[in-house]
Amino acid sequence: MGARPRMILSVVGARPNFMKLAPLARELARRRDVRHVIVHTGQHYDPDMSDVFIRGLDIPRPHFNLVVGSASHAQQTAAIMQRFEPICLRLQPDLVLVYGDVNSTVAAALVAAKLGIRVGHVEAGLRSRDWSMPEEINRVVTDRLADLLFTPSRDAGENLRAEGVPAERIHFVGNIMIDSLVALLPVAQRNGHLRHDFADRRYAVVTLHRPANVDDPATLRELLAALGEIAAGRQLVFPVHPRTRARLAALSWEPRGEGLSLIDPVPYVEMLSLVTGSDLVITDSGGLQEETSFLGIPCLTVRPTTERPITCSQGTNRLVAARREAIEQAAAELWGRRRIPPPAIERWDGRAAERIVAVLCDGARMD
Ligand code: UD1
Repeated sequence: MGARPRMILSVVGARPNFMKLAPLARELARRRDVRHVIVHTGQHYDPDMSDVFIRGLDIPRPHFNLVVGSASHAQQTAAIMQRFEPICLRLQPDLVLVYGDVNSTVAAALVAAKLGIRVGHVEAGLRSRDWSMPEEINRVVTDRLADLLFTPSRDAGENLRAEGVPAERIHFVGNIMIDSLVALLPVAQRNGHLRHDFADRRYAVVTLHRPANVDDPATLRELLAALGEIAAGRQLVFPVHPRTRARLAALSWEPRGEGLSLIDPVPYVEMLSLVTGSDLVITDSGGLQEETSFLGIPCLTVRPTTERPITCSQGTNRLVAARREAIEQAAAELWGRRRIPPPAIERWDGRAAERIVAVLCDGARMD
């Protein structure tokens, strides 16, 4: 890599970005040779999808908020680009860091690359090979634009090399989500789910928000039927994403019985605490596939593919079709089958941010 960066500008916008930024912001704050500027695009704006995470993860208050809000993909991506470009022109950062695979990620990477500013991508190289997922488009485009690609697992590096990314751009640093988990697990174990009324029972945690699962009413009804069946005999707790809440309201759907408990989105530490205390997680989230694998908790991912195959091959994750019987059967099989000790996945050790900073500031290589 060229000269060491003096100003690094991080761009975040959606809930899963914050867990990836927090450990890096902490490491960069220790460096006297770097100024770290944080830009929040405002893709997520509800306090419980944004502020609560920024505070709970001890992230410094962002220097800029682009307040783009919700819109179509094109409108949201374009608004981020239009509002981010003047900041880049004014600050002239040496490097723009983007995180994960959301619209904020690809929008900021495009702006920086077009201005000739170097781009670093944290969580590079993941591929579901499902082009119907907006995130897959965001991943492929962002990686094509990035000069520094920080991968969470060896398979991600292989994907990038197969696409022709020069090896010297790829750094296998490990999983930065796990840095946040390792830092806050002791706090999560001390508090959190105890204030919920199901805490004295065994339970599973459910999260569903992917457009493929919740935007099609027929698929959503199928998933709700599966959850209803499982909840007839067991306790389920379901923190509901705003997208899903809107879809449930459109169906005029209400949970029946006490087995299925719908709650608002929960802060990071509380979610970690809920998951840690659970017997099973049923989800379509990317982050939860990783967190459950690290913790050894069985995870049922309602998707046909995953960009995180290591969670299936080495972790506790199993993919399941969005079909009622398939979900019920898999849930019955996996319930309570916690892995002790949990799987040890290479470089999922709480030190990814340290490795990224060694690359950025000290010119280290991470093979
Ligand atoms: C986005 C990411 C997805 C990520 C998810 C995590 C993209 C393409 N998708 O999906 O990869 O897994 O975040 O949460 O970037 N809304 C609110 N309040 C908010 C934010 C959103 O009510 O603070 C509602 C709006 O109705 C909005 C809808 O949720 O239209 C979807 O939000 P959006 O950011 O477009 O996508 P997500 O489904 O959140």
